[in-house]
Amino acid sequence: MSSSKSYKIAVIPGDGTGPEVVNEGLKVLKAVAASQSIKYELVHYDLGGERYKKTGEILPDSILEELRKYNAIYLGAIGHPDVKPGILEKGILLRMRFELDQYINLRPVKLYPNVPCPLKDKGPKEIDFVVVRENTEGLYTGGGGFLKKGTADEVAIQESINTRKGVERCLRYAFQYAVKRHKANKLTLCGKTNVLTYAFDLWERTFHELAKEYPKIKTDYANVDATCMWMVKNPEWFDVIVTDNLFGDIITDLGAMIQGGMGIAAGGNINPQGVSMFEPIGGSAPKYTGMNVINPLAAICAAQMLLETVGETSAAEGVEKAVISALESGKIKSMGAGKMGLSTQEVGDLVASLI
Ligand code: IPM
Ligand code: MN
Repeated sequence: MSSSKSYKIAVIPGDGTGPEVVNEGLKVLKAVAASQSIKYELVHYDLGGERYKKTGEILPDSILEELRKYNAIYLGAIGHPDVKPGILEKGILLRMRFELDQYINLRPVKLYPNVPCPLKDKGPKEIDFVVVRENTEGLYTGGGGFLKKGTADEVAIQESINTRKGVERCLRYAFQYAVKRHKANKLTLCGKTNVLTYAFDLWERTFHELAKEYPKIKTDYANVDATCMWMVKNPEWFDVIVTDNLFGDIITDLGAMIQGGMGIAAGGNINPQGVSMFEPIGGSAPKYTGMNVINPLAAICAAQMLLETVGETSAAEGVEKAVISALESGKIKSMGAGKMGLSTQEVGDLVASLI
């Protein structure tokens, strides 16, 4: 049963194909909300490359303050071909993650039935794990600088910041998530303790300290390079993986590929005490913009994560079941843009009709 409260959701369609996939996610949200009498209100924000080109504004402070008041944020994609890489990504996406203290980036790697998988002999039974990526520290903080830039003696330093507080809250979330998920009751720390002997020493010590509080969770460790190898060779070994910001960024692109591609990979930027933001992880795909060919399933799955995180678990389940039924129908031929056999809107219609 849904509660009587009304959710306020900020919608940031963003750049490229972001608006197209967000439309389909909102279509499915509307269908599930109607079926479960969930009330919500949407407020759209035009952040992204077009606004930046027109006004020079990236993310005005006043909007950032407004965003704090929502129950959730639903994001399409950030990144524009006419804007130098980094400006929008850092100025909008990373700034929101940091300033809203969304310290977890939750990325399920789940292969649904009928989704082509590039791994031989692996199916939905073998590919079903979750990556908990730290989302506010590590190499993403911008710490470092240049010395003698542009000279032959140039020095470039990029620092990985790992705080006890930041590491501990991320690990605690991961332990709690493994308990709640109740699948294999296993948490794998992915690091690089053999080389990064400061940063991952802190991670490893904190991991073992916290493990004592979660006796039912089996702990496991893998270096990041080996994690990549096992994700391809034995993905069934993983239940929940916890890792730092950059390693999490890298292994979740690999994760997206083994779950069928960017077209179906969703993620949540989560502040368990504040406002969280949900997005398809694939980016703005400029070359497919406006063609009605991009796969909206990742955005639909992001809407499902939004519902789950705000506590509408039965609505979230409804969305997931509809996605699975849509895939089982065989009507969606591939996860790739332009290869689905259906348009972006038709995939959205199909999922919404199955709610
Ligand atoms: C992601 C993206 C971002 C990241 C980029 C766009 C800054 O790759 O969400 O994984 O590196 O976190
Ligand atoms: Mn990434």
